[in-house]
Amino acid sequence: MVDYKKIGLVNTRAMFAKAVDGGYAIPAFNFNNMEQMQAIIMAAVETKSPVILQVSKGARDYANQTLLRYMAEGAVEYAKELGCAHPEIVLHLDHGDSFETCKSCIDMGFSSVMIDGSALPYDENVAVTKKVVEYAHQFDVTVEGELGVLAGVEDEVSAAESHYTKPEEVIDFVTKTGVDSLAISIGTSHGAYKFTPEQCTVDPATGRLVPPPLAFDVLSAIEKKLPGFPIVLHGSSSVPQDEVDTINANGGCLKAAVGIPEEQLRKAAKSAVCKINIDSDSRLAMTAAIRKHMAEHPDHFDPRQYLKPARESMKKMYIHKIVNVLGSNGKLAIQ
Ligand code: G3H
Ligand code: 13P
Ligand code: ZN
Repeated sequence: MVDYKKIGLVNTRAMFAKAVDGGYAIPAFNFNNMEQMQAIIMAAVETKSPVILQVSKGARDYANQTLLRYMAEGAVEYAKELGCAHPEIVLHLDHGDSFETCKSCIDMGFSSVMIDGSALPYDENVAVTKKVVEYAHQFDVTVEGELGVLAGVEDEVSAAESHYTKPEEVIDFVTKTGVDSLAISIGTSHGAYKFTPEQCTVDPATGRLVPPPLAFDVLSAIEKKLPGFPIVLHGSSSVPQDEVDTINANGGCLKAAVGIPEEQLRKAAKSAVCKINIDSDSRLAMTAAIRKHMAEHPDHFDPRQYLKPARESMKKMYIHKIVNVLGSNGKLAIQ
């Protein structure tokens, strides 16, 4: 049993309470490799932001759960080396699919876990979430649950259609399970193709697809039922068109990729939404930089030559999200 506090990680409790009060959101960035982790930590240190490093099932299959856990321990020391004496870094399991997966991450030193029972019948979601909470809280590990189903397809999390969270269920769910935060469905979805062209309108000035707005009425209804309770938004990449264009101009083929407009995320971050999940934008930034570098330097074959600009590009994107969208810059408890 590894005590996450001994390796310098923190759970989400104080961080979320402060974010809800302060009207900003904590970035939850997925990581699968060293360059992503370095870029996230550099961005968090430069902006003096708390940060959540999250590990999906895809990441555990790709990079190995144990290795990722040790990388997070390394991330704490790396942040200190970069000049941040008191970093606030959470190691979070993203979309935990069972009690066993959550337990194994808790035992290994994760400071926060998500149990995603959103595709289960309501009572089963309550039962598995409660079981995870009872185990996690013995070790002061915080737990995120989910109610409502996101649309879209990602490697291990898929749902054919979106079912918004039902505000009338949230009090019962939070009370029965004891979760520390709740992921909700208000129209976001995972991946780079969040909306079909048919769901969008076309901006006559740019010809770009404009997605339908998020269901802020559902979010407000949830906030009224659970005043001040930490809410989480998954599927919050914006799919920047310049990255998509760079990919397509350098041999890629991403057609009709559409994300969540940043002004909607800015609005969400000011509400009880205190954790915003971003993965696809990092994948796009990395791929765009690598494709561009490869096209411009066909003679390069040392991975460091193309991973360095990829890391720079991800760092720039993370800083932009922290400063211009989520507002978590300068929010470390001890600067
Ligand atoms: O929901 C989170 C991630 O975007 C899923 O990514 O492909 O690493 O499982 P994955
Ligand atoms: P995106 O695919 O929009 O980046 O969402 C990531 C996410 O929700 C991870 O849990
Ligand atoms: Zn997610």
